[in-house]
Amino acid sequence: MRVLAICGSLRPSSSTRDALSLALAAAERGGAEVGYVDISALPWCDGRAVDAYGPGVDAFRKQLAGADALLLGSPEYHGSFTGVLKNALDLCGPDDLKGKLIGLVATARGDAGAMNTLNHLRQVSRWVGAWVLPAQVSVPNAGAAFADGKATRDGLDTELSALGQELVRYGRLLAADNAPAT
Ligand SMILES: Cc1cc2nc3c(=O)[nH]c(=O)nc-3n(C[C@H](O)[C@H](O)[C@H](O)COP(=O)(O)O)c2cc1C
Repeated sequence: MRVLAICGSLRPSSSTRDALSLALAAAERGGAEVGYVDISALPWCDGRAVDAYGPGVDAFRKQLAGADALLLGSPEYHGSFTGVLKNALDLCGPDDLKGKLIGLVATARGDAGAMNTLNHLRQVSRWVGAWVLPAQVSVPNAGAAFADGKATRDGLDTELSALGQELVRYGRLLAADNAPAT
């Protein structure tokens, strides 16, 4: 069971990455191998066939192929998820994310949290044929939500851990269902 996270923030110190790391840590405690997919050096999607971009995109898509479940995280940028994350998703072939399990995390500066970002990510995830967990985590006032990689707000660590655990639980079910019959 491998769970990989994609962070839609490229900031070196990112609250979104802090949130993803806490959820990933819970997935690891649940027995999954975990890691990040780096999207910072991907080229722009320009509409060509996805297998015509070369080794960087090939390696990115291969990493996705090896994941049983993905955690997508993004800051809210002008009411939606970031362009870098959308670009990464646009570089996926039509079947790359089909049947994968996806968990969603989003952060925002405002009190209202990042519900638009989560809803937009859910819509796009559905469009690429993924299964999206009903549970999701929105982190409002994200600038104050983490310190030294730990959640500072009551309940946030629990919410993120529960998401990581659900990814492992339901990811295992999907992986078993997708396994070739013996
Ligand atoms: C271009 C841009 C647009 C943003 N738009 C919003 C927004 O619409 N609503 C909001 O609450 N925060 C907005 N923010 C703030 C970020 O969502 C917030 O700082 C987030 O926690 C940053 O995540 P990071 O630490 O992972 O980079 C925006 C930030 C940037 C740079």
